[in-house]
Amino acid sequence: MIAPVGSGGALALGGRPGPVCMVGAGYVGLVTAVCLADSDIEVRLLDVDRDRLDMLREGRTPIHEPLLDELLISVLRRGTLLLCDDAAEAMRGAQVAMIAVGTPPLADGRADLSFVRAALTSTVADAGPGTVMVIKSTVPPGTTASMRRLCRRNGRQIPLAVCPEFLSEGSAVKDFRHPPQVVIGGDDRSACERVAQLFAHLDAPVFITDSTSAELIKYGTNAFLAMKISFINEMAQLCEHTGADVGMVASGIGADTRIGRAFLGAGLGFGGSCFPKDVRALDMAASYHGQSFGLLRAEVEVNSQARSRFVAKIQKALRGTLAGRRIAVLGLAFKPGTDDMRQAASVDVIRHLEDLGANVVATDPVAVPNAARMLPSTTLVGDPYECVVAADAVVIVTEWPEYRSLDWHRVAQLVRRHIVIDGRNCLDGDDLVQAGFTYISVGRPTRHPISKSAGRWKRQAADLVGQPPARSMRIA
Ligand code: NAD
Ligand code: UGA
Repeated sequence: MIAPVGSGGALALGGRPGPVCMVGAGYVGLVTAVCLADSDIEVRLLDVDRDRLDMLREGRTPIHEPLLDELLISVLRRGTLLLCDDAAEAMRGAQVAMIAVGTPPLADGRADLSFVRAALTSTVADAGPGTVMVIKSTVPPGTTASMRRLCRRNGRQIPLAVCPEFLSEGSAVKDFRHPPQVVIGGDDRSACERVAQLFAHLDAPVFITDSTSAELIKYGTNAFLAMKISFINEMAQLCEHTGADVGMVASGIGADTRIGRAFLGAGLGFGGSCFPKDVRALDMAASYHGQSFGLLRAEVEVNSQARSRFVAKIQKALRGTLAGRRIAVLGLAFKPGTDDMRQAASVDVIRHLEDLGANVVATDPVAVPNAARMLPSTTLVGDPYECVVAADAVVIVTEWPEYRSLDWHRVAQLVRRHIVIDGRNCLDGDDLVQAGFTYISVGRPTRHPISKSAGRWKRQAADLVGQPPARSMRIA
C-alpha cells in the first residue's frame, strides 16, 4: 500500500516511543538522534569512531550544521541523548534500532553495503523481544529484503524495516522538523507502525509500504532532483547559444506548478555525498535487472560537462591561457551552509585550473579545513578580500550569501583584472558592473562594466570574452 496512512498528528498509535538506538553519528545519524532526543525520546547514539564520540560528549559537533550545536548541548544536559561506543549498552531495551551508516560508491558505482551489513550484524545480536531494526541509510532496491536473513536469532525473526532519510545538508535540523514525508517500508505492518510513532509529533504524511518500494522512493527522489538540475544546465547552454537568460527561463518553466522552480538552478551542477552516488547506484541497480536507464547516465554526463565547460569559460575569459594566471575561487563546500567537501565542484574545477597552469587561491566561510585535505597544493585563505588580491579572475563556485554581499568596489581595488565568473548565478550583476567588472555567468548574457572609470576594463573584457552583448531573438 502506498497511500499516506496519515499525517504525523493523525497517526495516533498509542504510548510514548521507547528508547532508540541510532547507529552512526554522521550527518543523518547525528541529526536524527539529536532531533529525536529533543522531542524527549531516549536515544543512544552508537559510533565506531571514538574521537567523534569524545567531541560530541564535549558538546561539539564534527559537522557544520545550523542549530545542531545548541540542540546537542540541550539534549546532553537533559540526559535524553547518550553517546555509546558499546553496542550492547546502546541496544539495551531499545524499541527501535536505526542503522545510519554510510553507503559510499564502489569503483563501479554500486553502493557499498558493507558498513550497513556490519552495523546490522553487530547490533541485532543485542536486539530484545520488542526491537524493530531499521535501515535509515540509502540502500538499493531489494537490500532490506535480502538483509532480513541477518535478523534471525534463535529461530526468531526480528523485524527489519527501511526508513529512508530526506534531509539536506545545511538545513538538516529544519528538514527533520518539517519533512516532506515520512516513508517506511517493511513486511511487518505493526513493526512499521512502531517506527512511524517516532515521527508522530511531526506534521508530515506517513507512507507505509513494502521495503523495495520505500528504497526506490528514496533513489527516485534524488535521481529526479538531479535530473532537474541537469536539464536546466542543458537549457543554460542553449540560452548561451541563443542569447536568452536561463534565470528567466527557469522561473517561467518553474511557474508551472506541475514542474516547480526548485532544483532549476543552473550552474556548476550537483555535488555532495548523495546525488552523484545515488544516481550511479540506481543506474547500476537497473542494469542488474537488464534495464538500460539512459536518463540517469545522461544526468551524470551533463553534470560532469558543466564543470569542464566552466573551466573553458574561465580560460576563454583570460585570452585562452591560464598558465601563470592567478584565479581567486570563492566557495569550496559542495553547497552553502555546510563544510562537506564530498564531490564538491570546487575540487574538479580547481584541479583542472591547476592542471592548466593557473595559480589558484581559494576561500570558504567554513570548509577550508576539510578542503585542505583534498587540495594540498592550493593556497587556501579564510578571508575573501585576501583571496582576491592580484587576481586575474574571481570565480564563484559556491553561492554563500557572504559573497553576494561583498563590497565589490573594494574588491575592484584589490584585483588585477576586473573579471568575475559566477558558476552559481548568485551575484547581483548590477552591483558587479557598477563596480567596474565584466560579469560572466552561466546561461545568461555577459555583462560589461558601466562605470566611466572602468571603461578601459569594459573594452578589455569585451575583447577578452569576445562575446557580443545579448539581444533578444526577434520573432517575425
Ligand atoms: P557519514 O559518513 O557522515 O557518517 C557515517 C557514520 O557511521 C560515521 O560516523 C561512521 O564512523 C559511522 N559508522 C560506520 N560504521 C559503523 C558501525 N559499524 N557502527 C557504528 N557506526 C559506524 O554518513 P551520512 O552522510 O550520515 O550518510 C549515511 C547514510 O544516509 C548514507 O546511506 C547516505 O546516502 C544517507 N543520506 C545522507 C544524507 C546526507 O545529507 N548526508 C541525507 C539523506 C540520506
Ligand atoms: C540532497 C537532497 O536534497 C536531500 O533531499 C537528500 O536527503 C540528500 O541529497 C541525500 O540523499 O543525501 P544535499 O545533497 O544535502 O541533499 O543537497 P541539495 O540541496 O539537494 O544539493 C545537491 C547539489 O545540487 C548541490 O551541489 C547543489 O549545489 C546542487 N544544486 C541544487 C544545483 O546545482 N542546482 C539547484 O537548483 C539545486
